[in-house]
Amino acid sequence: MVKYGGWSISASGYRAHAPQHLESLFCQSNGYIGSRAAFLQDGAPPYERCTFMAGGFDYISPGITDIVNLPDPFHLTLTVAGSMPGRSGGSYTRFDQRLDLKNGLYTRDAVWTDERGCETAIKISRFISMANKHLAALRVELTALNHDGEAALLMGLDAGVLNLPVHDDQTLVNDQTVKMLNYAGGTSERGSCGLTVRSRTGRVKIDMRCRITHSDGEQEDGSGADCPARRLTVKLKRNQTVYAEKIISVNLPGGPPPGGFAPLLEESGSAWALRWKNADIEVESDDPGLQTALRYNLFQLMQSRPFGDPDVSIGARGLTHARYKGCYFWDTDIFLQPFFAYTDPAAARDLVRFRLSTLPDARENAKALNLDGARYAWMCAAGGREQCHTWDIGRSEVHITADVAYAADEYARVTGDESLRGEMSRLFVETARYWASRFSYDKSKDVYNLLFVKGPDEYCGVSSNNAYTVMLARHNLKLALGAAEGGVSPDEAAKWREIIEKSHVGYDAERELYIQDDDFPRLEPFDFMSKDGDAPIYRKMDYDRLQRYRVLKQADLVLLILLLPDTFTESQKHAIWDYYEPITLHDSSLSHGIHAWAAAVLGKRDKAYYYFKKSLLLDLENIMGNTGTEGINMAALGASWQTAVFGFAGLSAGSGGEPSLSPRLPDGWRSMRFAFYANGKRYRAEITPEGCSVKENREEKS
Ligand code: BGC
Repeated sequence: MVKYGGWSISASGYRAHAPQHLESLFCQSNGYIGSRAAFLQDGAPPYERCTFMAGGFDYISPGITDIVNLPDPFHLTLTVAGSMPGRSGGSYTRFDQRLDLKNGLYTRDAVWTDERGCETAIKISRFISMANKHLAALRVELTALNHDGEAALLMGLDAGVLNLPVHDDQTLVNDQTVKMLNYAGGTSERGSCGLTVRSRTGRVKIDMRCRITHSDGEQEDGSGADCPARRLTVKLKRNQTVYAEKIISVNLPGGPPPGGFAPLLEESGSAWALRWKNADIEVESDDPGLQTALRYNLFQLMQSRPFGDPDVSIGARGLTHARYKGCYFWDTDIFLQPFFAYTDPAAARDLVRFRLSTLPDARENAKALNLDGARYAWMCAAGGREQCHTWDIGRSEVHITADVAYAADEYARVTGDESLRGEMSRLFVETARYWASRFSYDKSKDVYNLLFVKGPDEYCGVSSNNAYTVMLARHNLKLALGAAEGGVSPDEAAKWREIIEKSHVGYDAERELYIQDDDFPRLEPFDFMSKDGDAPIYRKMDYDRLQRYRVLKQADLVLLILLLPDTFTESQKHAIWDYYEPITLHDSSLSHGIHAWAAAVLGKRDKAYYYFKKSLLLDLENIMGNTGTEGINMAALGASWQTAVFGFAGLSAGSGGEPSLSPRLPDGWRSMRFAFYANGKRYRAEITPEGCSVKENREEKS
């Protein structure tokens, strides 16, 4: 069992858990580099020892990239008194892993008992600096508990790692590794190693260096193929602790600056403390573990924040796994961006700037599909060109373009930052041009149809007039009409108005129910007994079969009532919930959190908390069974945050107005406190049994 309490998450026992689950949970990142907690010492193969760099993509086939697995900075093997812990005969009599959420420190406290009964305490600690994006560090401490002997440590930088590209089709498993790195040489000198690598086509260039220090002992070259390394030999004396440290730099001219593990950790801890000050949510409740689980969500969100770089964004799995080839989806705009807009506006601004700067690629995407204007790619990597392999999703899941426009406008609404308005206007106009060419006019009925699209519910096949997409496209067109951009002809504007007015969305007036898409009423009833727990059904049922069932993969219209709340009456919102919630399988990690938020808003307290816990614990408890094999589900983190802040606290802010709360705290929550930014000001919200308040904190400006 993974335990979560206080400021840490922990797990005990060697191989007592699926190793990959823990490798994801204990993944460390600073938004520039991220590394899964997979160690060579434990025998992790080269494609599982993954370290990624934000924006570090290179081609694996024409036009298609993968996120490059960088050299393993935490490369380490260990031999104590002739035995290799975890690999030779003997056993770990203690093996406790822990991640400290306050400062991002991973530690492993173990005791290895070899076949002769020699016991050695082994402590391994590592972190990736939040203060200096180029730095990471590893420390090993060894204590011979009942023997004297010798330990050999091999510490280096391993460029012998491989990529194991993951197919976009979630049902296909790949076992073909790809060598993405060309080793351009390394150095191994007393106290240091270094290497340079280039990815296949040279898009990613890495200069990695490390400084190695250790207590008494010898040091010699221990380099292997593609792996400059130092072999350290240290004497072990009963009950005396010896140590070795490796301070690693990535693309830092001059290599690691002076300073050992402890001071660098302290520096990084101070940077973390600042982030916590801006983003922490404190909850007093009867629910054990809830506070830590919430902080784990926040921790992963903060870790994923690009380190001040507007040329990169946040992948669907952050830097925790190569699932989806590291690509960026609507997950960033709709699920993650609100967290940053309210807790770290500069980060949110960078996410918007990424979309603004890839507008030229979005134009190319539209052109490639014989359309006008700009079309954002369903999946994109470096730049904005389409990276999705699968035809139905890559070509048809077009709502992303409206999601991008929506999120850019939301950023400005919440933060009050008007400095990007000019560029945003161009984005609204170009995306509106795309929609104008994507809708088809049916003269006989005087109606605009959005033919052959896929909504957020990916079990809907490729259908027409998906309500989510049409209504968000209308919103996009309205943003363009309101944009101060020149160059829009009166005819063009008139056409946009006509599409807003005459585009078709199915609506059953008697039930006050919006219909998801044109095919929806014709679908076959689904046997809900065929679903096993939380495991996605697409693992055992083909999408072709699924698309003919009246069943949803994830929130579709239920999400729209949250994004465009003023478009629906209260009874329409309830009708949407009452109809679609019971037939949604939540086979995407994007679903639970949105249902939690919607349930909170609609006053369905039990459902709200039920879905919130699913979303909050999705990775910690591996609820969908994919955390190990796919990494941390970023969008679920963002949706959990939105449920807590918009759903439970009922925060409403932006457009220059004073923020307000309408609390709907779950049963058992006694109080909730959090800080946030809105309109360039800093606030503190507090909800207690005595009442609630939002106060401006004038000492801290954004
Ligand atoms: C979901 C999409 C999501 C993607 C990446 C898919 O399974 O259906 O909505 O964007 O995963 O997270």
